[in-house]
Amino acid sequence: MNQSEKPTALIMIFGATGDLANRKLFPSLYRLYQKGKLDRFAVVGVARRSITNEQFQQNVRDSILSADSNDTNIDDFISRFVYHSHDVTDSNSYATLNQISDELDQRYQLDGNRIFYLAMAPEFFGTIAEHLKMDGLTNVAGFKRLVIEKPFGRSLESAQKLNEQIRTAFAENEIYRIDHYLGKEMVQNIEVIRFANAMFEPLWNNRYISNIQITSSETLGVEERGRYYETSGALRDMVQNHMLQMVALLAMEPPIRLTTEEIRSEKVRALRSLRQISGEEINQYFVRGQYGEGNLNGEELVAYRNEDMVDPKSNTETFVAGKLMIDNFRWAGVPFYIRTGKRMLTKQTKIVVQFKDIPMNLYYQTEQELQPNLLVIHIQPEEGITLHLNAKKSGQSLAAKPVKLSYANRGIDGINTPEAYEKLLYDCMRGDATNFTHWDEVALSWSFVDNISRVWENTPEVSFPNYESNTMGPKAAHDLLERDGFHWWPVTMLDVETCK
Ligand code: BG6
Repeated sequence: MNQSEKPTALIMIFGATGDLANRKLFPSLYRLYQKGKLDRFAVVGVARRSITNEQFQQNVRDSILSADSNDTNIDDFISRFVYHSHDVTDSNSYATLNQISDELDQRYQLDGNRIFYLAMAPEFFGTIAEHLKMDGLTNVAGFKRLVIEKPFGRSLESAQKLNEQIRTAFAENEIYRIDHYLGKEMVQNIEVIRFANAMFEPLWNNRYISNIQITSSETLGVEERGRYYETSGALRDMVQNHMLQMVALLAMEPPIRLTTEEIRSEKVRALRSLRQISGEEINQYFVRGQYGEGNLNGEELVAYRNEDMVDPKSNTETFVAGKLMIDNFRWAGVPFYIRTGKRMLTKQTKIVVQFKDIPMNLYYQTEQELQPNLLVIHIQPEEGITLHLNAKKSGQSLAAKPVKLSYANRGIDGINTPEAYEKLLYDCMRGDATNFTHWDEVALSWSFVDNISRVWENTPEVSFPNYESNTMGPKAAHDLLERDGFHWWPVTMLDVETCK
């Protein structure tokens, strides 16, 4: 399907009264509708709660209005939403859902296309998938697709089990596993920056790059998600998926074509080259942290162990820093450093590619240390690229000074880039699975992460909490780079806005 064609589908959202549906899915669908990208569609909201259609439609309206000020044609949009109060284990409830769906299909001429979006607790994924098949909901004239949110299991073994369950009802190419980072504009831009520029790809290897740093820091704590987070921690919550996906995009070989299969198979190859680390080695490669109390503009921040639904002796990590080695020809010897955590100093995601020093610094005569060249990819909140170079200081001397060339998406194009969910929903409706995670990627990421979590779970970290809220994490995360003669480039120094 090309970009101008409008996809047609019935979208069933399981978990329609939940946070994700309200914060992301309804506003994203509405934006697609406003942009004229949807024409024939309808939505069935499915959840346990017993509410009327009118109440549900009011929820959808409220969620849209809190995200957007523009409400053009909102009544027509909302009229396509129907609610079904559902029991996930009861076949009768699925029969009613099927009937509602058939009626909507006829009313809006949806060609029997169905998208099942599971925006809810993962323990029900398997049951729902099995019922969808058993009770005839996947028996459709058009396409059927399953969209699932993370967490996709909490280890390779549980992910495998879940996968087997959903595969009874859906083929791999009908499963769309969401990693919302893959919907981010600048994450998608990594491939373009690499493969569309003659000046980067030839240098994109261990001869010219000394290290790569990926930081995804958050200022919020666990908020009301303590129960989930206690079973996950930062390793499963951020590293297994978002961080490793960014590593794969940075490390992969150029695909021979920009098709879903070719891109995925290169990403899989990159993940297969990750050096497996286990046992005692973990401490040389990975650092875990947990936030303690802190202070933000006079406001007291509570320690992780004092958050709601968190064990007061919790061993869960809220911060991870790691050094990943990719053992292939291109990357041998180049560390990929990652760090992510909650209650950190800033909310940012940035990638810094640090190039090797030039062979000889002529500017030592002027007592000048030359800064290494850096390519910074700003994923969020700013979106852009900055290239750090050295140039001549104005005036008589031949001294060099660092300069920055920068491109800021928003600043220049003057438009807000679409939300990740907007793009991903549209891709799924069009049948483009490129920016979703294939099972092979999920399995490889889990097997990498399992080695670490196995060790961490069995060895309580006595120094927890080991970083103060509102800081950049524990000292050990800095030592990790220092041991290799590097340091984290401070995220604030790298702001795209300050370098225009
Ligand atoms: C989610 C995690 O996948 O990503 C959250 O479960 C985290 O804990 C979020 O806060 C971060 O996403 P973003 O888009 O705000 O960087």
